[in-house]
Amino acid sequence: MIKNQWYVVMSSKEVKEGKLIGVTRFGEKLAIWRDAEGKVHCISDICCHRGASISHGKLLENGERVMCPFHGFEYDSTGRVRVIPSNGRNSPVPENFKVKAYKTYELADFIWLWYGDDEPTQNPSYFDDIDDSLPYSEFSEVWNVHYSRAIENQLDPIHVPFVHYNTIGRGNRTVADGPIVRWINDTMFYFYVFNRVDDGTPARKPEEMQISEMSKVYLEFKFPNIWQNHIDEKLRVTAAFVPIDEEHTKIYIRFYVGFTKIKALNKLIATLGMPFNKKVLHQDKAVVETQIPKKTELRMSENLINGDLPILEYRKKREQLKSANNK
Ligand code: FES
Ligand SMILES: [Fe+2]
Repeated sequence: MIKNQWYVVMSSKEVKEGKLIGVTRFGEKLAIWRDAEGKVHCISDICCHRGASISHGKLLENGERVMCPFHGFEYDSTGRVRVIPSNGRNSPVPENFKVKAYKTYELADFIWLWYGDDEPTQNPSYFDDIDDSLPYSEFSEVWNVHYSRAIENQLDPIHVPFVHYNTIGRGNRTVADGPIVRWINDTMFYFYVFNRVDDGTPARKPEEMQISEMSKVYLEFKFPNIWQNHIDEKLRVTAAFVPIDEEHTKIYIRFYVGFTKIKALNKLIATLGMPFNKKVLHQDKAVVETQIPKKTELRMSENLINGDLPILEYRKKREQLKSANNK
């Protein structure tokens, strides 16, 4: 995990108003809830008394407090215990009766958590070119891999004709010219892929590619965990790779459609298109879950090739961000 980052951790619709749920993210058990005003809160799900799951308790006072089910300790959203019932409601609570609280933010129908020791200096940002009114359909599932493997799969242009030979990879375009990686800022890059049928000429290096050859289709990765495929101005696939623990990742795929002026029709197209996206994702899952080790590092015994350039760039930057933030 890279520290001091805003991570997408859930889809907004998964946390209904007045609801308290338990999830695992970053290898930690978390209790998440939405109060009566719609604000999302998150504290550790391990009670500081004797370790019961707080999320199995209930919300009090319109979600201003949450009560552990075991002995009724009441927590506020900063993680402090405010009431120890067996001591009497008005007895003072020692300061060390607290659990960790996480900063939350809601944006683009996602819940974001700040993971790190420093204070956030800015709010999270989603993709600039997707505004909130663009209709989408969403699908999510858990993969049995570290999130680095799930991300790298979406940065990999050379698996497409093999893994997706009968879907998005039809046409046997096995040779990958380029690919070209362009850093847009310190934590975000675009990459362009040029797959073609093997005509006997070797793959061209990125520096041999003309800028004019760049297609309008490009992919984008934004640290620490979101990705976008710009298929068209009006058609996007996005993914959020949510770290559950070292060996599990929840992937949220969205299919954004803006083809027509009618929102409901766009939504319908997005919904009808999701089974295809799901099929493509399952083709990936079947292979990616076989990869060993389950997690990647910059320095590991893999033999990367030209077509892996976006993956290499990802690994380098991840390492750089880790050494700058994981003190
Ligand atoms: S374990 Fe939570 S109140 Fe006792
Ligand atoms: Fe794929």
